[in-house]
Amino acid sequence: MERENFGSKLGVLLAMAGSAVGLGNLWRFPYMVGVNGGAAFILVYIVFTVILCLPIFISEFVIGRRSQSNALGSFRKLAPGSKWSLVGILAVLTPMIILSYYSVVGGWSLRFFCSACTMDFTKDGTDLAGMFGLFASSVWGPIIFHTIFLGITAAIILAGVQKGIERFSKVMMPLLFILIILMAARTLTLPGAKEGLQWILKPNFSKVSLSMCAAALGQAFFSLSIGYGIILTYGSYVGKDVNIVSSAAKTTGMDMLFSLIACCAIMPAVFIFNVSPNAGPGLVFQTLPFIFSKMPLGNFVAVIFFATLVVAALTSAISLFEVGVAWLVEERKLSRKWATLWVFFFTWVVGIICSLSFGPLNGIKLFKMEIFSLLDYLSSNILMILGGLFFVVFVGWKMKKADVREEFTNSGALKGNNWLFAPVYFIIKWVAPIAVILIFISNFIK
Ligand code: PHE
Repeated sequence: MERENFGSKLGVLLAMAGSAVGLGNLWRFPYMVGVNGGAAFILVYIVFTVILCLPIFISEFVIGRRSQSNALGSFRKLAPGSKWSLVGILAVLTPMIILSYYSVVGGWSLRFFCSACTMDFTKDGTDLAGMFGLFASSVWGPIIFHTIFLGITAAIILAGVQKGIERFSKVMMPLLFILIILMAARTLTLPGAKEGLQWILKPNFSKVSLSMCAAALGQAFFSLSIGYGIILTYGSYVGKDVNIVSSAAKTTGMDMLFSLIACCAIMPAVFIFNVSPNAGPGLVFQTLPFIFSKMPLGNFVAVIFFATLVVAALTSAISLFEVGVAWLVEERKLSRKWATLWVFFFTWVVGIICSLSFGPLNGIKLFKMEIFSLLDYLSSNILMILGGLFFVVFVGWKMKKADVREEFTNSGALKGNNWLFAPVYFIIKWVAPIAVILIFISNFIK
């Protein structure tokens, strides 16, 4: 069967950026910055993204484009008969686990978007903040919204790589940037925005610690969607004329920019309305509705914000979904329709369990965490970092250097990438594995 490819270079870029920009930028980044003390965290995050994550991104891209195959098939193809296919299994499984709970949060976002459209936030915003806990812990509401969110994702996937993923990303990504810039413009023009801005801009280096570095690295991985087989799968839909290095750099740049704008849109408001910046994961769903209710034009801003959240979550969810579908279609020879149904079914069931872990299943704890947090911890702090590590080790140690160079320079056609090859290859082979292992271990020394 002919494999489908992305139709244009811009399409590739926007689909990758669509995967990267998501709840990680809007929900996770601001609260991580809040919890970890502001500007110093942002600086460490930027340094990690550029020095470590960009080369890891490139490695994953190289594996996908070279093999023109799904996350499992690519290791079978590039290293036949070896244990590397185990890494492929990891790369197929992790995204499906993440999608299950990601879709629950996507459902919450959808629910809040509906509320923002129909309720008067200036009156009800304070109630809304309290409503989050009630809603998340109820049984049917979150499951219904999880189902709708996952259903929309499946519909886009069903339409295919070009007509679904690419077309959706091309329309939605520019919209996302416009929405978040609008929101930032509103916040930054509020009286008193300066203090919050200073907090984002003036680093306090005494806050830098090993655990903060681990958190920053985890955030950078999560935000770029690296280490999961997603960039690998998208990379496999890319033609030989695409410049891997510049696409990776542009995607990384867009993702970082989006996170920083999101921070400017949220943090100053947190300071102006005197709520604690370190509210944790509830920041977006509990603290922000309260802020919107106090803000001039709050209703309008709330609609914009939750629309942004839903769209960003959708473009990321489709990338998670596609990994499983590509594997089922190519390795298990299912039709795209059946593959979509199976992935839907699996993630729907696991998602329901995650959702119920805020309510009736709340008492069930493994390693002191309820199911939702356990899956998040397992996938973002362990599986993802391991995945990223394996990808760089594969490219740096298992693949032939000449093959990697070929992908890097499009068989010599991209002269500009020639001089970049040596330093980036050095990072892939030595710096990234060592740094990632050290930081990974530091996760456990507390
Ligand atoms: N990068 C996405 C975000 O920032 C999340 C994501 C993680 C998507 C892993 C795909 C894979 O929200």
